[in-house]
Amino acid sequence: MKKFVSLLLALLMIASLAACGKKANDDKKSSDSKTLVMGTSADYAPFEFMYKGEDGTMQYGGIDVSVGQYIADSMGKELKVENMSFDYLLPSLVKGDFDIVIAAMEADGDRLKSADFSDPYYTDLPPAILVKASDAASYKTLADFAGKSVAAQTGTTKLDIVNDQLTGANAVPLALVTDMVNELVNGKVDAIVVDGAVAKQYAETNKDLVIADASSELGAAQPYCVAVAKGDPKGLLPAINAAIAKMNEENKLESFISAADALKDVWQEVTPENPS
Ligand code: ARG
Repeated sequence: MKKFVSLLLALLMIASLAACGKKANDDKKSSDSKTLVMGTSADYAPFEFMYKGEDGTMQYGGIDVSVGQYIADSMGKELKVENMSFDYLLPSLVKGDFDIVIAAMEADGDRLKSADFSDPYYTDLPPAILVKASDAASYKTLADFAGKSVAAQTGTTKLDIVNDQLTGANAVPLALVTDMVNELVNGKVDAIVVDGAVAKQYAETNKDLVIADASSELGAAQPYCVAVAKGDPKGLLPAINAAIAKMNEENKLESFISAADALKDVWQEVTPENPS
Protein backbone atom coordinates (compact mmCIF):
# COMPACT_ATOMS: atom_id res chain seq x y z
CA MET A 1 0.00 0.00 0.00
CA LYS A 2 2.81 2.35 1.02
CA LYS A 3 4.52 1.62 -2.26
CA PHE A 4 1.34 2.31 -4.15
CA VAL A 5 0.89 5.68 -2.41
CA SER A 6 4.42 6.80 -3.17
CA LEU A 7 4.02 5.68 -6.76
CA LEU A 8 0.81 7.66 -6.95
CA LEU A 9 2.52 10.71 -5.43
CA ALA A 10 5.38 10.41 -7.88
CA LEU A 11 2.94 10.19 -10.78
CA LEU A 12 1.04 13.19 -9.49
CA MET A 13 4.26 15.15 -9.23
CA ILE A 14 5.24 14.32 -12.78
CA ALA A 15 1.75 15.28 -13.95
CA SER A 16 1.90 18.62 -12.15
CA LEU A 17 5.40 19.30 -13.44
CA ALA A 18 4.19 18.61 -16.93
CA ALA A 19 1.26 20.94 -16.33
CA CYS A 20 3.68 23.66 -15.17
CA GLY A 21 5.81 23.08 -18.22
CA LYS A 22 2.83 23.37 -20.48
CA LYS A 23 1.61 26.49 -18.78
CA ALA A 24 5.03 28.08 -19.03
CA ASN A 25 4.99 27.29 -22.72
CA ASP A 26 1.55 28.73 -23.25
CA ASP A 27 2.51 31.84 -21.39
CA LYS A 28 5.78 32.16 -23.21
CA LYS A 29 5.70 35.73 -24.37
CA SER A 30 9.14 36.51 -25.61
CA SER A 31 9.47 36.94 -29.33
CA ASP A 32 10.96 33.83 -30.93
CA SER A 33 12.08 35.65 -34.01
CA LYS A 34 15.72 36.48 -34.57
CA THR A 35 14.73 39.94 -35.77
CA LEU A 36 13.72 43.00 -33.78
CA VAL A 37 11.51 45.20 -35.95
CA MET A 38 11.67 48.86 -35.02
CA GLY A 39 9.19 51.38 -36.36
CA THR A 40 10.33 54.99 -36.62
CA SER A 41 9.59 58.18 -38.53
CA ALA A 42 12.82 59.15 -40.28
CA ASP A 43 11.98 62.84 -40.62
CA TYR A 44 13.60 63.81 -37.33
CA ALA A 45 17.36 64.33 -37.46
CA PRO A 46 19.42 63.93 -35.33
CA PHE A 47 17.16 61.20 -33.86
CA GLU A 48 16.20 59.38 -37.07
CA PHE A 49 17.06 60.02 -40.69
CA MET A 50 18.46 58.25 -43.76
CA TYR A 51 21.75 58.65 -45.59
CA LYS A 52 23.53 57.07 -48.51
CA GLY A 53 25.94 54.46 -47.19
CA GLU A 54 29.31 53.64 -48.69
CA ASP A 55 27.80 50.95 -50.91
CA GLY A 56 25.38 53.51 -52.36
CA THR A 57 22.26 52.15 -50.65
CA MET A 58 20.11 54.20 -48.26
CA GLN A 59 20.70 53.45 -44.59
CA TYR A 60 18.93 54.47 -41.42
CA GLY A 61 20.93 56.57 -38.99
CA GLY A 62 20.49 58.72 -35.91
CA ILE A 63 20.51 58.53 -32.13
CA ASP A 64 17.36 56.38 -31.94
CA VAL A 65 18.63 53.97 -34.58
CA SER A 66 21.82 53.50 -32.52
CA VAL A 67 19.66 52.91 -29.43
CA GLY A 68 17.61 50.33 -31.36
CA GLN A 69 20.79 48.65 -32.59
CA TYR A 70 22.20 48.50 -29.06
CA ILE A 71 18.99 46.94 -27.73
CA ALA A 72 18.83 44.41 -30.60
CA ASP A 73 22.52 43.49 -30.09
CA SER A 74 22.01 42.96 -26.39
CA MET A 75 19.03 40.67 -27.15
CA GLY A 76 21.05 38.78 -29.76
CA LYS A 77 18.70 39.84 -32.55
CA GLU A 78 19.06 41.55 -35.92
CA LEU A 79 17.61 45.05 -36.08
CA LYS A 80 15.21 45.85 -38.91
CA VAL A 81 14.05 49.46 -39.22
CA GLU A 82 10.78 50.49 -40.85
CA ASN A 83 9.85 54.04 -41.75
CA MET A 84 6.36 55.42 -41.27
CA SER A 85 4.81 58.79 -40.57
CA PHE A 86 4.73 59.43 -36.85
CA ASP A 87 0.94 59.24 -36.48
CA TYR A 88 0.90 55.71 -37.96
CA LEU A 89 3.55 54.31 -35.62
CA LEU A 90 1.41 53.32 -32.63
CA PRO A 91 -1.50 51.93 -34.70
CA SER A 92 1.04 49.76 -36.58
CA LEU A 93 2.62 48.65 -33.29
CA VAL A 94 -0.83 47.63 -32.03
CA LYS A 95 -1.44 45.67 -35.26
CA GLY A 96 1.80 43.79 -34.61
CA ASP A 97 3.73 45.19 -37.59
CA PHE A 98 6.61 46.22 -35.33
CA ASP A 99 8.09 44.86 -32.13
CA ILE A 100 9.09 48.29 -30.85
CA VAL A 101 8.81 51.96 -31.72
CA ILE A 102 11.71 54.33 -31.14
CA ALA A 103 10.96 57.77 -32.52
CA ALA A 104 11.85 60.47 -29.97
CA MET A 105 8.55 59.39 -28.45
CA GLU A 106 7.42 60.53 -25.03
CA ALA A 107 5.40 58.27 -22.71
CA ASP A 108 2.45 60.60 -23.03
CA GLY A 109 -0.85 59.83 -21.21
CA ASP A 110 -2.99 59.11 -24.28
CA ARG A 111 -0.40 56.78 -25.74
CA LEU A 112 -0.49 54.61 -22.62
CA LYS A 113 -3.87 53.31 -23.82
CA SER A 114 -2.26 51.52 -26.76
CA ALA A 115 1.36 51.09 -25.69
CA ASP A 116 3.63 50.33 -22.76
CA PHE A 117 6.87 52.26 -22.42
CA SER A 118 10.39 51.38 -21.34
CA ASP A 119 12.41 53.36 -18.84
CA PRO A 120 13.55 56.68 -20.36
CA TYR A 121 16.66 56.46 -22.53
CA TYR A 122 17.21 60.15 -23.26
CA THR A 123 16.02 63.63 -22.36
CA ASP A 124 16.30 66.14 -25.18
CA LEU A 125 16.80 69.91 -25.08
CA PRO A 126 13.53 71.69 -24.25
CA PRO A 127 10.98 71.99 -27.10
CA ALA A 128 11.37 75.01 -29.36
CA ILE A 129 9.50 77.24 -31.78
CA LEU A 130 11.19 77.87 -35.13
CA VAL A 131 10.40 81.08 -37.01
CA LYS A 132 11.93 82.89 -39.96
CA ALA A 133 15.03 84.84 -38.95
CA SER A 134 13.54 87.96 -40.53
CA ASP A 135 10.47 87.73 -38.19
CA ALA A 136 12.35 86.80 -35.02
CA ALA A 137 11.96 90.25 -33.42
CA SER A 138 8.14 89.88 -33.42
CA TYR A 139 8.14 86.66 -31.35
CA LYS A 140 9.43 87.53 -27.91
CA THR A 141 6.66 85.87 -25.86
CA LEU A 142 4.09 83.12 -26.43
CA ALA A 143 1.33 85.76 -26.62
CA ASP A 144 2.92 87.03 -29.86
CA PHE A 145 1.67 83.88 -31.65
CA ALA A 146 -2.00 84.82 -31.23
CA GLY A 147 -3.63 84.89 -34.67
CA LYS A 148 -0.57 83.23 -36.29
CA SER A 149 -0.45 79.83 -38.03
CA VAL A 150 1.74 77.41 -36.14
CA ALA A 151 2.45 73.93 -37.51
CA ALA A 152 3.32 70.84 -35.50
CA GLN A 153 3.54 67.17 -36.39
CA THR A 154 0.24 65.25 -36.25
CA GLY A 155 -0.12 63.06 -33.18
CA THR A 156 2.81 64.59 -31.31
CA THR A 157 3.09 66.29 -27.96
CA LYS A 158 4.30 69.36 -29.89
CA LEU A 159 0.82 69.72 -31.39
CA ASP A 160 -0.55 69.64 -27.82
CA ILE A 161 1.84 72.49 -27.00
CA VAL A 162 0.45 74.59 -29.87
CA ASN A 163 -3.13 73.86 -28.74
CA ASP A 164 -2.56 74.29 -25.02
CA GLN A 165 0.16 76.91 -24.67
CA LEU A 166 -0.01 79.15 -27.75
CA THR A 167 -3.30 80.81 -26.93
CA GLY A 168 -5.06 82.20 -29.99
CA ALA A 169 -2.69 80.58 -32.51
CA ASN A 170 -4.13 78.55 -35.41
CA ALA A 171 -2.74 75.03 -35.06
CA VAL A 172 -1.74 73.44 -38.37
CA PRO A 173 -1.20 69.67 -37.97
CA LEU A 174 1.08 68.17 -40.64
CA ALA A 175 2.11 64.54 -40.94
CA LEU A 176 5.77 65.20 -41.75
CA VAL A 177 8.35 67.48 -40.21
CA THR A 178 9.92 67.92 -43.66
CA ASP A 179 6.64 69.46 -44.89
CA MET A 180 6.41 71.67 -41.80
CA VAL A 181 9.86 73.10 -42.50
CA ASN A 182 9.01 73.70 -46.18
CA GLU A 183 5.78 75.51 -45.24
CA LEU A 184 7.73 77.71 -42.84
CA VAL A 185 10.45 78.50 -45.36
CA ASN A 186 7.80 79.29 -48.00
CA GLY A 187 5.85 81.53 -45.64
CA LYS A 188 2.73 79.32 -45.58
CA VAL A 189 2.90 79.06 -41.77
CA ASP A 190 4.42 81.56 -39.35
CA ALA A 191 6.10 79.11 -36.99
CA ILE A 192 6.59 75.42 -36.22
CA VAL A 193 7.07 73.60 -32.90
CA VAL A 194 9.49 70.66 -32.69
CA ASP A 195 11.70 69.01 -30.08
CA GLY A 196 14.83 70.89 -29.01
CA ALA A 197 17.62 69.07 -30.83
CA VAL A 198 15.56 68.95 -34.01
CA ALA A 199 14.90 72.70 -33.87
CA LYS A 200 18.58 73.31 -33.23
CA GLN A 201 19.72 71.30 -36.25
CA TYR A 202 17.21 72.99 -38.58
CA ALA A 203 18.31 76.43 -37.33
CA GLU A 204 21.95 75.45 -37.88
CA THR A 205 21.46 74.09 -41.37
CA ASN A 206 19.02 76.75 -42.56
CA LYS A 207 20.14 80.36 -42.23
CA ASP A 208 16.58 81.63 -42.76
CA LEU A 209 15.33 79.93 -39.59
CA VAL A 210 15.92 80.72 -35.91
CA ILE A 211 14.64 79.53 -32.55
CA ALA A 212 12.19 82.17 -31.23
CA ASP A 213 12.96 83.73 -27.84
CA ALA A 214 9.45 82.79 -26.71
CA SER A 215 10.56 79.11 -26.74
CA SER A 216 11.97 79.47 -23.22
CA GLU A 217 8.36 79.70 -21.93
CA LEU A 218 7.44 76.23 -23.20
CA GLY A 219 8.90 74.32 -20.25
CA ALA A 220 11.16 71.31 -19.90
CA ALA A 221 11.58 68.38 -22.29
CA GLN A 222 9.90 65.07 -21.46
CA PRO A 223 12.14 62.01 -21.74
CA TYR A 224 11.99 59.65 -24.72
CA CYS A 225 11.11 55.99 -24.19
CA VAL A 226 10.87 52.81 -26.26
CA ALA A 227 7.26 51.73 -26.94
CA VAL A 228 5.96 48.16 -27.11
CA ALA A 229 2.33 47.11 -27.68
CA LYS A 230 0.04 47.43 -24.65
CA GLY A 231 0.57 44.60 -22.16
CA ASP A 232 3.93 43.77 -23.80
CA PRO A 233 2.52 40.66 -25.56
CA LYS A 234 5.98 39.66 -26.82
CA GLY A 235 7.55 40.03 -23.38
CA LEU A 236 10.27 42.38 -24.61
CA LEU A 237 10.28 45.08 -21.94
CA PRO A 238 12.52 43.43 -19.33
CA ALA A 239 15.30 42.92 -21.89
CA ILE A 240 14.79 46.42 -23.29
CA ASN A 241 15.03 47.99 -19.83
CA ALA A 242 18.12 45.93 -19.01
CA ALA A 243 19.75 47.11 -22.25
CA ILE A 244 18.85 50.75 -21.49
CA ALA A 245 20.31 50.48 -17.98
CA LYS A 246 23.55 49.07 -19.39
CA MET A 247 23.60 51.67 -22.17
CA ASN A 248 23.30 54.48 -19.61
CA GLU A 249 25.94 52.93 -17.37
CA GLU A 250 28.30 52.83 -20.33
CA ASN A 251 27.42 56.43 -21.26
CA LYS A 252 26.61 55.29 -24.79
CA LEU A 253 24.29 58.17 -25.67
CA GLU A 254 27.22 60.54 -26.03
CA SER A 255 28.80 58.40 -28.72
CA PHE A 256 25.42 57.91 -30.44
CA ILE A 257 25.01 61.70 -30.53
CA SER A 258 28.45 62.24 -32.05
CA ALA A 259 27.89 59.44 -34.57
CA ALA A 260 24.65 61.16 -35.66
CA ASP A 261 26.40 64.55 -35.82
CA ALA A 262 29.13 63.11 -38.00
CA LEU A 263 26.47 62.37 -40.65
CA LYS A 264 25.22 65.97 -40.68
CA ASP A 265 26.39 66.68 -44.23
CA VAL A 266 24.75 63.60 -45.70
CA TRP A 267 21.61 63.02 -43.64
CA GLN A 268 18.23 63.33 -45.27
CA GLU A 269 14.84 63.37 -43.67
CA VAL A 270 12.85 60.87 -45.68
CA THR A 271 9.14 60.76 -46.42
CA PRO A 272 7.81 57.34 -45.52
CA GLU A 273 5.21 55.44 -47.49
CA ASN A 274 2.31 54.67 -45.23
CA PRO A 275 0.24 51.52 -45.50
CA SER A 276 -2.86 52.16 -47.60
N1 ARG B 1 8.70 64.06 -28.94
C1 ARG B 1 7.49 64.26 -29.66
C2 ARG B 1 6.41 63.29 -29.22
O1 ARG B 1 6.62 62.38 -28.54
C3 ARG B 1 7.65 64.24 -31.17
C4 ARG B 1 8.34 63.06 -31.75
C5 ARG B 1 8.34 63.06 -33.25
N2 ARG B 1 9.20 62.02 -33.76
C6 ARG B 1 9.51 61.81 -35.07
N3 ARG B 1 10.33 60.85 -35.35
N4 ARG B 1 9.00 62.55 -36.01
O2 ARG B 1 5.27 63.43 -29.57
